[in-house]
Amino acid sequence: MSKKHRILTGHRATGPRHIGHLVGTLHQYVAFQEEYECYFLVADLHALTTGFDRPQELNTNTLEVTADFLACGIDPKKATLVLQSAIPEHARLCLLLSMLVGVARLERNPTYKDQLHELKLQPSLGFLSYPVLQAADILLYQGEFVPVGEDQLPHLELAREVARRFNQLYGQTFPEPQAILSKIPRLPGIDNRTMHTSYGNAIYLKDTPEETRRKVMAMYTDPTRIHASDPGHVEGNPLFAYLDAFDPDPVKVAEYKKTYQAGKVGDVELKIHLAEVLNTALAEIRERRASLIADRRGLIEILRQGTESARPMAGETYANAALKMGLLTLN
Ligand code: TRP
Repeated sequence: MSKKHRILTGHRATGPRHIGHLVGTLHQYVAFQEEYECYFLVADLHALTTGFDRPQELNTNTLEVTADFLACGIDPKKATLVLQSAIPEHARLCLLLSMLVGVARLERNPTYKDQLHELKLQPSLGFLSYPVLQAADILLYQGEFVPVGEDQLPHLELAREVARRFNQLYGQTFPEPQAILSKIPRLPGIDNRTMHTSYGNAIYLKDTPEETRRKVMAMYTDPTRIHASDPGHVEGNPLFAYLDAFDPDPVKVAEYKKTYQAGKVGDVELKIHLAEVLNTALAEIRERRASLIADRRGLIEILRQGTESARPMAGETYANAALKMGLLTLN
């Protein structure tokens, strides 16, 4: 059997996952684990770069992300689930790689500049070197493919540069990782901005059917439409973005689009339908997630086992990199 290609990707442990994550990434991860050797990282160190002042939150969020990964179908028998901070080689390789990256290069990173602008924080050293840690995550497992959103491309580019530089200086060591860009359009939030954990506009996998219904009923639709009999816009209307993503009956969605454009169906009727569609689509995930969260020890055990199985490879890659850089081995 030919060797499977390796994928590495991850989420920062910033809180429960929402339906945008499900459609944009988690569904793909579940498909990837059938064909690739997959490492899925719960990036708690990366979450620290902005959340270091809320330790209790980070602790909970780490388990929330893990539970959502599993509930969506990431299968510990098929893929390796890794807790970043539990493998010291992530931080150790990050330190080694940081010798090869210029400060000015990191300051030019568009993601860094955007976040700095948005979060209005004094950038810490850890925040600046965020992409170096991400490069370490990928290279530690010799990741060949990295499924990411478009916003992560600058980080991938840096990881590629670091790999190339390392290989030039010390001989071929790391494959240059390639991005796999999701072709699925990003799901808007209920206010039609990007769905984001910190914008208060997300529908979470953990939301109850009632919360989901309430959020759907409050959704932004078509601001030009005053009466149900006014012709409505389908483009740029999150109601239809959600129906396209979740309604199992595309013929019915096409029909709704026509009647909406003709001013023959009201927002309320559509919203009631959408809430039902979402609640049906999410029912199983919610059930699994609730039982995972209820068994904290069991959840930690799954994460522990995944992490343990990743440890030898991380150790080997790190030791090899350290050796090539000239660090003395004492045994
Ligand atoms: N930076 C990524 C994000 O915010 C998360 C992440 C951490 C990651 N380490 C990674 C993604 C390694 C891909 C590969 O989404």
